[in-house]
Amino acid sequence: MEKLTIRKPDDWHLHLREGVVLKNILKFSSDFFGRAIIMPNTKNPITSIERGVAYKNSICSLLSKTNTFKPLMTIYLTESISNDEIKRGFLDNIFFAAKLYPANATTNSLYGVKNIKKIYKVFELMQEIGMPLLIHGEVSDPMVDIFDREEVFIDTELNPIIKNFPDLKIVLEHITTSYAVDFVESNNIAATITPHHLHINRNAMFFGGLNSDFYCLPVAKRESNRISLIKAATSGNECFFLGTDSAPHLREWKAFCGCAGIFNSSVALNSYLQVFEEENALEKFEKFASINGPKFHNLPLNNEYITLVREPYEVEEFVDIFDENKKIGAIKPFHAGQTLNWRVKS
Ligand code: DOR
Ligand code: ZN
Repeated sequence: MEKLTIRKPDDWHLHLREGVVLKNILKFSSDFFGRAIIMPNTKNPITSIERGVAYKNSICSLLSKTNTFKPLMTIYLTESISNDEIKRGFLDNIFFAAKLYPANATTNSLYGVKNIKKIYKVFELMQEIGMPLLIHGEVSDPMVDIFDREEVFIDTELNPIIKNFPDLKIVLEHITTSYAVDFVESNNIAATITPHHLHINRNAMFFGGLNSDFYCLPVAKRESNRISLIKAATSGNECFFLGTDSAPHLREWKAFCGCAGIFNSSVALNSYLQVFEEENALEKFEKFASINGPKFHNLPLNNEYITLVREPYEVEEFVDIFDENKKIGAIKPFHAGQTLNWRVKS
């Protein structure tokens, strides 16, 4: 196959950040995706309607008049969040979903939830009003091995949530293990899968010296897990869909602090396609990228189409970040310096 035309995809898990970084990177999502779920773990997390509205406006003000990209906003769950804020935010169409970060599980999750049982009343409300719960599925207990945190979360937290709230719409985000694949398939929930977890296993972080370019959370796991994720993504199974978890960090921060996150929105479709092609599953890509997500979320499919062509695509070493005309930094994209097989037809 040399050409693939599909309905415009959606990104069901995206970090857009704020300010200058947002300004520079938004185009990578708004050019190629119809909608995206915007993560609320900004420096000042999106814990209220007021912040949600301001954040959405700051995103929309950067879109050109003809751009139809729709940011779907999320509220960051804390132990002190009120049911009233959640209900009004959802019913007034400010928030599409709520995001659960176990406290200290990842970037800007300090204000997340320490004791998940404490917000069961919030889940009860969400189940009642049909608001999706998006979960960073890792325990943050430092005594739990970092490679086991997803499995332990599934057993100790997710399973009880599902038992207590069988009708709650749940998406387990950026899954990384065979265990999660099996769990999602055998329960009535969905999962997003990132491009990076389809391409790298945990060796990538240690190849040629300690390499934070491939450090993200949940961390990539061993190869057998990557293979399970590829099978899941390319299966066409409706419970798996695209979520890039594109998480930009300026080079200097990433290099000095090794913060978790891989920026991939500039190469996301190319990256996914590489995997689907290797699996001989190009015909399943539209389901994963453009159909399974809206179906799960009861949203219409996008009306626009995009065409992907099998032509070499050279990935730049860095995406430069400008403030006005002054370069203030750079972000390393996933696949930096590599040549991929597919690109989006302009
Ligand atoms: O690697 C990650 N980076 N995982 C997350 O859950 C958050 C993200 C970020 O915001 O940088
Ligand atoms: Zn994320």
